[in-house]
Amino acid sequence: EKGGYDHFMLKEIYEQPNVIKDTYRGRLHSNEGIIQMAGVEDHLEKFLHADRIIIVACGTSWHAGLVAEYVFEEFTRIPVEVEYASEFRYRNPIISSKDVVIAISQSGETADTMAAIKLAKEHGAFVFGVCNVVGSSISRESHAGAYTHAGPEIGVASTKAFTTQITVLTMIALRLAKAKGTLSNSDFHMYLQELEIIPEKVKEALETAVTTKKIATTFKDAHNCLYLGRGYNFPVALEGALKLKEISYIHAEGYPAAEMKHGPIALIDEQMPVIVIAPKQGHYDKIVSNIQEIKSRSGRIIAVVTKGDTQVRELADYVIEVPETSDALSPLITTIPLQLLSYYIAVFRGCNVDQPRNLAKSVTVE
Ligand code: F6R
Repeated sequence: EKGGYDHFMLKEIYEQPNVIKDTYRGRLHSNEGIIQMAGVEDHLEKFLHADRIIIVACGTSWHAGLVAEYVFEEFTRIPVEVEYASEFRYRNPIISSKDVVIAISQSGETADTMAAIKLAKEHGAFVFGVCNVVGSSISRESHAGAYTHAGPEIGVASTKAFTTQITVLTMIALRLAKAKGTLSNSDFHMYLQELEIIPEKVKEALETAVTTKKIATTFKDAHNCLYLGRGYNFPVALEGALKLKEISYIHAEGYPAAEMKHGPIALIDEQMPVIVIAPKQGHYDKIVSNIQEIKSRSGRIIAVVTKGDTQVRELADYVIEVPETSDALSPLITTIPLQLLSYYIAVFRGCNVDQPRNLAKSVTVE
């Protein structure tokens, strides 16, 4: 049932090229320049007239929501807020019938996310669900939605759900951008084509398993770990840290790289592994100077870079090379080696990867 893999988590990591394809199949037609998702088409006006989009989710799904915030605002210019469902539901949020609420949930059963949806509906908001489990409570409670086609995710640590959630949300953003005219025609087509070849690039990114495994042997006994990223890759840093915490029990934190100087840099010494997501697109020069700051304080740098990178390579102790893509789509690629790194560290520490202590696959309690 694990298809020859040692763990479900590893199997699910390797399924990502296929499930991303399954998720956009029939919805993304790059030659025709069309994105078609019934749940979006049927309610297009709701989206186009929204004052803002509020995304509610928990855990990894919340991280996908953060990526979506950057993508939606960039592509559609609709203001987006991303909320932990558990905070949203208890804080008397301002919400009206002009709001669109997107709920993201792999299981479709997360109690806090469910409660957030109910609250949003009471206030007249339109609720759109992005779920993986067909017929789940959240998918039924939403007014409309779009499924991720990740297939069953058994490993408690979410991997393929995350990348397929980003795929769905990016397609929605592209569809709305087309309707609103907020992306140039050439950018729109570029993103469609780029999204279509992402599975091939994810496949290539999976080849980093060799390098990440080596890095994992070096760092398996670390007590702490920092993950840094900027822009679209800031949520990837958060997700990388969450994956490490969950399955290896190493304390890890994700930060926007520029926040280092406001506190966390005090933690840096030769004992501290710092994983920096530094692809060529985006804020490359800025992140290079962040890396220099860490290096001058003797931190140990593991950098995720674009293939062929030279500048970061000179500074970093270890580099993990991934294929180049556009900035907005890069989370789909940069997250892959971070999943693998957590996986191998957890395996080398003898942890129960698929069923980490204290965690359940779906959190149906508050
Ligand atoms: C992380 C993880 C959890 C879930 C969270 C939300 O690897 O598995 O953080 O992402 O409990 O679950 P869903 O997406 O089912 O609502």
